[in-house]
Amino acid sequence: MLDINKSDDYLSKGNNTVVCNWKAYLGVQESIDLASALSKWSRENEHSSDIIVSPSHASLYPVAKLLEGAGISLCAQNIDIEKPGAYTGALSADLLEEIRCKYVMLGHSEIRSGKSLGVPEDDSLISKKFAVCMRGKLNPILCIGETMQERSSGKTLEVLKRQTLVGMGKMPDKIPASKTIYLAYEPVWAISSNKTKETAIPDQINKIVTKLLDAVEKESGTNILSRIKILYGGSVDSRNIASYASQSEIDGVLIGGMSTSISKITAMLKEIEAK
Ligand code: 13P
Repeated sequence: MLDINKSDDYLSKGNNTVVCNWKAYLGVQESIDLASALSKWSRENEHSSDIIVSPSHASLYPVAKLLEGAGISLCAQNIDIEKPGAYTGALSADLLEEIRCKYVMLGHSEIRSGKSLGVPEDDSLISKKFAVCMRGKLNPILCIGETMQERSSGKTLEVLKRQTLVGMGKMPDKIPASKTIYLAYEPVWAISSNKTKETAIPDQINKIVTKLLDAVEKESGTNILSRIKILYGGSVDSRNIASYASQSEIDGVLIGGMSTSISKITAMLKEIEAK
């Protein structure tokens, strides 16, 4: 069994954050193998990055056990409900807390768009999930990002502002002090699996994030900057990770495809540690 009372003081040291989103790429045994290798690396190598892994729902529990004491946090890819009950097929926040899952990703573009067999999720539903996190122990990684069409029609800032403010329930000032809030900016057009993928220029990403934070602060009347950490996601690899992570407003990265093999993850960790 997991020791659910164990201290998790090792988390959130205020350094670079590296989130590995395994999406639905890996089977359970593959997730176990990768989590074992990454835990071993983390134990044996001095590093200052906060590492977070986000396996598929079916792999959460075995991965949780493997991460114990390895200085790596666990993240779920979504939640459906808050408390256990008569909700067939749903994943609850309570269940995630039981296995010491610290984070949950909300509003990933692949969920917002209904890309899988699922139903698309809108800002209003995402904000309900954000509120569940605020009431319980989970810390949200709120994903935002404009599509290519929105970008081409000059709507980037408008979309990001809406996704941020509505997603947070228009009340970033009410966020409990104990919470770590990540805002993950993943332009949909920069995600590696997107057929019309384009490269996001680190400097331009930083400018957009700066404008977004200014706009959100003005609108919410809150010093939101002091409350959240910013991640960039979209085709991050070992060649570009340092250039994204070294931008002034960026605290870390959210990695998809390149986070599914131990050699690729450790190559990226070495680059980000050296920056
Ligand atoms: P890629 O790193 O494969 O572009 O995926 C980004 C992403 O969607 C992470 O959540």
